[in-house]
Amino acid sequence: MTAVQVGTLYGISVGPGDPELITLKGLRILNQVPVVAFPTGIRGKPGMAQQIVEKWLGGEQVQLPLTFPYVQDFVLLAQAWQVAAEQVWHYLHRGQDVAFVCEGDVSFYSTFTYLAEMLQQLHPECIVQTIPGVCSPMAAASALGMPLTVRDQCLVVLPALYVVAELETILDWADVVVLMKVSSVYEQVWQVLERRQLLNRARVVERATLPEQVIYENVCDRPTLNLPYFSLLIIKVTEKEPGTGDEGKLNLGS
Ligand SMILES: C[S@@+](CC[C@H](N)C(=O)[O-])C[C@H]1O[C@@H](n2cnc3c(N)ncnc32)[C@H](O)[C@@H]1O
Repeated sequence: MTAVQVGTLYGISVGPGDPELITLKGLRILNQVPVVAFPTGIRGKPGMAQQIVEKWLGGEQVQLPLTFPYVQDFVLLAQAWQVAAEQVWHYLHRGQDVAFVCEGDVSFYSTFTYLAEMLQQLHPECIVQTIPGVCSPMAAASALGMPLTVRDQCLVVLPALYVVAELETILDWADVVVLMKVSSVYEQVWQVLERRQLLNRARVVERATLPEQVIYENVCDRPTLNLPYFSLLIIKVTEKEPGTGDEGKLNLGS
């Protein structure tokens, strides 16, 4: 009797919201796999990645929701990754490929990384492949109709701001700063930006590329904003006109 070839776990980047922003390769693999996994949404609603791929899924494909709690506790998270890894392994070890669909890009602050690491730890024979895609800062820049960076500008991405003082340090040297998960710290960030006269250089994009997308071209008159989780803030600390060599560094005195 020949041993069953273990299936492949694909991490497919499905882009920031617009279903057409999945890559051709991602879509081809998504159409081929028998099992499609995704993070469960909150309050019974489908999660973002699931919503994005809904129109691409075939009725015969198994849909596998995986639960990842929104907590910082490493023990709870590790337990969830382990449970999810075994749910995926259930199909892989029978030779079935599984696609885990990931909002934005799969290598950019994605739960997929932890799932794949756990799976490889528990079942070293498993095969993992990722398909890159469009991440949210790129999508937000496109929505704003501007380049994210030009020439020699230094870009800093802050995945989440737990200590607002970190932002102060970064604003001293970065040209462009992207704040992910800004919704929970927006008011503190606004205070920093006001002090540093950067309010007119800060743009917020909610739900980039989705029909519900909202853009704030600056935040001068918005000390508070009720932002959804899927929002980010881009600070152009220095504004350079592409190709002009205009340095435009602001006076950052406090
Ligand atoms: C855990 S990270 C996931 C990032 C994702 N893998 C990516 O490539 O963009 C979640 C954060 O990404 C940002 N984000 C993701 N999609 C977004 C969108 N469509 N519009 C605005 N921000 C988004 C938000 O800041 C959100 O809090």
